[in-house]
Amino acid sequence: MDQFFYYRKKKYSINSNGVFTKKSFSNIALIKYWGKQKNRIQIPLNSSISYSLENVYTVTRLIYHLKEKKRNFSVRVFLSGKEKTSFIPKILEFFHRISFYCSYLRDFNFVIETENTFPHSSGIASSASSMSSLALCIMEIEKKLVPSLKEDFFFKKASFLARLGSGSACRSIYPGLVVWGGHKSIKGSNNLYAIPYPYQVHPIFTKMGDTILVIDETPKQISSSKGHQLMNCNPYAKERFKCANKNMDRLISILKRGDLQDFGELIEHEALSLHAMIMTSSPYFLCMKPNTLNVLDKVWDFRKQSRKNIYFTLDAGANVHLLYPLQEKKFIMKLINNDLSSYCKKIIESFCI
Ligand code: PMV
Repeated sequence: MDQFFYYRKKKYSINSNGVFTKKSFSNIALIKYWGKQKNRIQIPLNSSISYSLENVYTVTRLIYHLKEKKRNFSVRVFLSGKEKTSFIPKILEFFHRISFYCSYLRDFNFVIETENTFPHSSGIASSASSMSSLALCIMEIEKKLVPSLKEDFFFKKASFLARLGSGSACRSIYPGLVVWGGHKSIKGSNNLYAIPYPYQVHPIFTKMGDTILVIDETPKQISSSKGHQLMNCNPYAKERFKCANKNMDRLISILKRGDLQDFGELIEHEALSLHAMIMTSSPYFLCMKPNTLNVLDKVWDFRKQSRKNIYFTLDAGANVHLLYPLQEKKFIMKLINNDLSSYCKKIIESFCI
C-alpha cells in the first residue's frame, strides 16, 4: 500500500484554480462481491468480476482552488445543478479515508458537480460510477503535482481510492470485464484495487447487451454496507465465499470457450446466491418484488420456447439486468416490449463495453 502514499510538498506545481472533468461507468457484477473482512476497510471476502456499462455513467467536475491558509477539508457538492448538503458527510468520510494517500486534499477548496446519465430515482446505485469518477478527478490533481506519474499507476491508484469510497467502484475505473479481489487463478488480482480481466475472452462476450428493467424506484431496503456487514454472521457465508471462488474458475473457462448457456446458468446462480445471502442474514431482508419474480418467470419461459440466449442478473435490489448477445437484441427487445414492460417502471438500454 506504501506505493500509493503521497509525500506532501511545501509548494505545488499546479495553477491555483482549475477544474477536472471525468466520466465513469456503472458496472454490473457477474460474480458478486458480498461480504468484507472485519476491521479492515473495504477488503472483500471473495473475488468478483463485472462488466462496465455503456450509457450508464456519471460525469464529475472537480473544481479546485488552492487555499491560502491550510486547515481542513472544504467541499460543496452539486447533483444535476442542485446543491446537496446531504452528500457532504459521505464525501468527507471518503476524504478522511484517503487523506493518508492524498494528503494534498486538505490544501484545496473543492466544488464537486456531478451528473448521472441514468434517471435519478431509478434504483440504480450511482455510488460505483460517482466514486470512481471522483477518484479519477483526484488523480488528475495528483498528476499535476507529480508530472512523472505513469499512466498505469494513475489507474491503479484511482481504483485503489475508488475502493475506499465504495468497494465495487474500484471496478468502474476500467471498461470491459474487470476483476477485484485476489484469486489464485487470476494473475495480478488483488484485494486493494481492480484490474482489467487479463485472459482470453471469446468474441461473443465482447458484445453483450444489458437492458435494465427498473422494477422499483424506491431506495434499497438494505444498504450495501449493512449487507456486507451481515455476512460476518451469516451461517452460510463460508460456503458462499468458497462457491464464488469456484464460480470464478468456471467463468474463466466459459469466457474462453464462448459458452453462452454455461455463462447464463452461472450468472443466474450468482444473482440468486446473492439474494439467498440477503434472505438468510440476521436480520433478514427480501429485496425482490413480485414483479421481479414475474420477470424471471417470463425470461425462463421465453428461453425454453425460443432457445434464445437471454439471462438475468440482479444487484442487491429488485431491478433486473437482462444480458444477451447484442446480435440477438431485436428478438430480445420484442420480448421486453411485449411481455415485460408492464412489470417495469423504466427500461434502460445499455451494453457491456
Ligand atoms: O460496492 P458496494 O459496497 O455498493 O457493494 C456492491 C454489492 C453488489 O452490487 C451487490 C455486488 C457487486 O459485486 O457489485
